Amino acid sequence: MKLAGVCAVLLLLTGPSSTKEEQKNDPFTGIENEKVLPMLQHLPRQHGGMNVPPVDGRFLYDLILENGYQRALEIGTSNGYSGLWIGLALQHNGGKLVTLEINPLAADEARGNFLKAGLDGVIEVRTADALEEIPKVPGTFDFIFIDAWKPDYYKYLRLVKDRVVPGGAITAHNVTGGSQRQMRDFLEAIQNDPDLETIIHPLSGQGISVSIIKSR
Ligand SMILES: C[S@@+](CC[C@H](N)C(=O)[O-])C[C@H]1O[C@@H](n2cnc3c(N)ncnc32)[C@H](O)[C@@H]1O
Repeated sequence: MKLAGVCAVLLLLTGPSSTKEEQKNDPFTGIENEKVLPMLQHLPRQHGGMNVPPVDGRFLYDLILENGYQRALEIGTSNGYSGLWIGLALQHNGGKLVTLEINPLAADEARGNFLKAGLDGVIEVRTADALEEIPKVPGTFDFIFIDAWKPDYYKYLRLVKDRVVPGGAITAHNVTGGSQRQMRDFLEAIQNDPDLETIIHPLSGQGISVSIIKSR
């Protein structure tokens, strides 16, 4: 994607619209998949705060749909809540997600949830330390979601950045609020790297950064 396209993506993300307002009030607006919808509505309550809030999940879903992203990588699966949002959008786009989780119990739970959601053909869960596994995932990406160990965000960024195609997005969770001090190197990098066009969305209050890769 050329810089003009990048700016269009950023404008789209920042621009207020009635649809975005509706989604803020009800992040499930327009989600019609009968298997996934009840899971999106109820799963986070079972997992005491680890999962992205629904409004943040909806944001990722819209970003993927609106940009036609198809090759996604998630770092930090937990029980698969954000993966459900990402996977649902990728299913619509004909894409695939690889998601990495270091905790075998959480990874198994996520696999069960993706199977129940009918997204097991879209999402591959790898039980592994992302720092070791990222180099083993083949190919390039157009969408990354970072939501694992906060002090390692900068390391994750360094591992993925050159593998994301121009116009692709590197997104990260918990970039505002208390976690900020654990990821100062990451925040500085995404805001100062000349290859990236970054905006930070407060959303639920936990914050999501979106860094679009400029044309090289
Ligand atoms: C905040 S939770 C992820 C929540 C998930 N993205 C969601 O919204 O449903 C962070 C997860 O990252 C995992 N994690 C931490 N360090 C990791 C690493 N180096 N590699 C893979 N997973 C890691 C943790 O075990 C935990 O399940």
